[in-house]
Amino acid sequence: MKSNKLILLITLLLPVFYVQAQKTEQILIETQHTALILKAGENGRIYQSYLGERFARTADYQKLPQGQEAYITGGMEDQFQPAIRITHTDTNPSLELLYDHSEVNNPEGNVRETIIVLKDPKYPVTVKLHYQAYVQQDVIKSWTEIINGEKGKIILQDYASSMLHFNAASYWLTHFNGDWAAEMKMQETKLTSGIKEIDSKLGTRAAMYQSPLFLLSLNGQVNENNAEVIAGTLAWTGNFRFHFEIDPNNSLRVVSGINSYASAYQLAAGKTFTTPVFIFTYSAHGSGQASRNLHQWARNYSVMDGNGSRLVLLNNWETTNMHFDEEKLVSMFGDVNKIGADLFLLDDGWFGNKYPRSSDNAGLGDWQPTRTKLPHGIGNLITKAEAAGTKFGIWMEPEMVNPSSELYEKHQDWILKLPNRAENLYRNQLTLDLTNPEVKAFVLKTMDDLITKNPGLAFIKWDCNRLMTNTWSPYLKDKQSNLFVDYVHALYDIFRQLRQKHPDLPMMLCSGGGARIDYEAMKYFTEFWPSDNTDGLERVYMQWGYSMFYPSIAVAAHVTSWGKQSLKFRTEVAMMGKLGYDIDVSKMSADEVAFSKQAVGHYKRLSSTIWKGDLYRLISPYAENRAVLMYVDSTKSKAVVFNYNLNIREREVVGRVKLQGLAPEKQYQVKEINQMPGATAILPNNGATYSGELLMKIGLDLNSWHLKPLTSSVIEITDI
Ligand code: GLA
Repeated sequence: MKSNKLILLITLLLPVFYVQAQKTEQILIETQHTALILKAGENGRIYQSYLGERFARTADYQKLPQGQEAYITGGMEDQFQPAIRITHTDTNPSLELLYDHSEVNNPEGNVRETIIVLKDPKYPVTVKLHYQAYVQQDVIKSWTEIINGEKGKIILQDYASSMLHFNAASYWLTHFNGDWAAEMKMQETKLTSGIKEIDSKLGTRAAMYQSPLFLLSLNGQVNENNAEVIAGTLAWTGNFRFHFEIDPNNSLRVVSGINSYASAYQLAAGKTFTTPVFIFTYSAHGSGQASRNLHQWARNYSVMDGNGSRLVLLNNWETTNMHFDEEKLVSMFGDVNKIGADLFLLDDGWFGNKYPRSSDNAGLGDWQPTRTKLPHGIGNLITKAEAAGTKFGIWMEPEMVNPSSELYEKHQDWILKLPNRAENLYRNQLTLDLTNPEVKAFVLKTMDDLITKNPGLAFIKWDCNRLMTNTWSPYLKDKQSNLFVDYVHALYDIFRQLRQKHPDLPMMLCSGGGARIDYEAMKYFTEFWPSDNTDGLERVYMQWGYSMFYPSIAVAAHVTSWGKQSLKFRTEVAMMGKLGYDIDVSKMSADEVAFSKQAVGHYKRLSSTIWKGDLYRLISPYAENRAVLMYVDSTKSKAVVFNYNLNIREREVVGRVKLQGLAPEKQYQVKEINQMPGATAILPNNGATYSGELLMKIGLDLNSWHLKPLTSSVIEITDI
């Protein structure tokens, strides 16, 4: 009897203990070197207690202060930017989120997911915070689900993917701005009290002025090896916003997500809204380590075929523009072999009959080969390319339409434009309304037919040459403020469905250069086009910027006739990315062709180190008149150093370059490769052997007697 009473008492008390334990529990999100610690407070809300280097003893986390609320809601007592702000069906503009429970999926695996479920005590709205920790790569992905359990629609006014809090003495933000042909310019600024926002309102081609990427350095300016850095990026190809706000206590909140500008999202009863993913890595060892974390993560989890191989291509855009015919193209197939490349990429200008695409003011939307230019169609070109020993790829811009097109004549209702105002053309074109399922199906079918009917097709370049202005969807009617978001969801859905049907076809993501690159899209693409500007000098800076976030296997870099540098310089800049060509081979001298073929050969031998190795950025072009960077393979047995003298002055004094990432105990042969026929290496004692320790402590003299502007060298390092 006595024991029965005890059991009853325990049974009655248990749920209480359970709830209480739950209510104040700590939630540990850890990777190899990083910890994000959340805590449920006594008031039932959830707090961020810590983000930083992982502690050796988990017990120490118990002594952390409570911190700031992790996902602050609008309409309540907080006085700064909320992570979420909604209007309920009854127009009430407030939200309180209390901790319900958390779940952990795959706790022993490399990808561990924690889901924190929060509920409003007054309204049936549930918010789930997702944190996916990639343990080996020290990367955390976070996103939010918002579930509308109300009887009517709710309006999502703000709906961040992530909110993070920092408490440091000072904060330094590096962001990446640009324009067409001027992408990825790095700017660092000290954050001061109040707000700094990096955002986009362009709809498509959304990253043209600002890229959805940032580095945040704590307690001092960013540097490659010693700073405390967070590198963050939003996997979203539309409007984004990073909000940095310092409050009177010098605490910084970083709110990342879709830009709510003109996008108060109507969420119907019973529906769930899932935000895009915010990806970040924390590094106590500078931006170099942050980049290496992201590269490794991206290759394994977020770039299509990120650990695979890539083709060296020859594009015709810079040589022919839209002025070509079958004969011209067939003559260029032979050029692919001459330089040792693998694939011919036919660019813009091959389609349209009633309105042939002979300039950028006609044809978009009519995806039939122009009979006057290509009387035997695409299939015949593929056959001829294969006969010449090369693969064949093609350019598409399927989201767009020119007013001079049959598509425009037939389907006014498929186009994004204001019904009662003048059309605002950008590059003479308009955007199709992907929110309309019929239009979405058209775009998908256009792509699918092209690929299915041409089974030999080996590559696609998917372009997007305008941003949105004067935007209105005939389909969305009274839900216009869902347009920017629904467009992107539809686009990703097209990518996803296309990939289900054609899982292996290599595809390049392009947007008038590099105006649309993000890690959600890159799941479906094998590479991206960083910029139409292929001037070697400009590309050193741009590719440096891109390298902060993207692995070189994804960063297309072509040798073209832009820029006044030598062919060697332009080639060696392109070799630090995913090498390709867009140059008139028929105009090259015999020596230039021989050099190019040799360079492609070197590249193919070294590409696995360049694509999959660890990147060490040794000398920044932002700091000196030169740039040096190196890739080291995972076994530290092979490395490649790229050395570029930029606008360097004669007799400018530069130091030796200390290498990084090698094994100190190994012996390495150090050899400069890739000279023009008849030229000699500039590296003193070319081919000599040194220990890894010496190379890292004393370094290499890369320039001593050859300090000329716009020169370059490539050094191959092999353990012996
Ligand atoms: C964009 C691309 C270029 C080229 C042209 C074709 O500008 O960035 O590489 O494909 O379109 O119109």
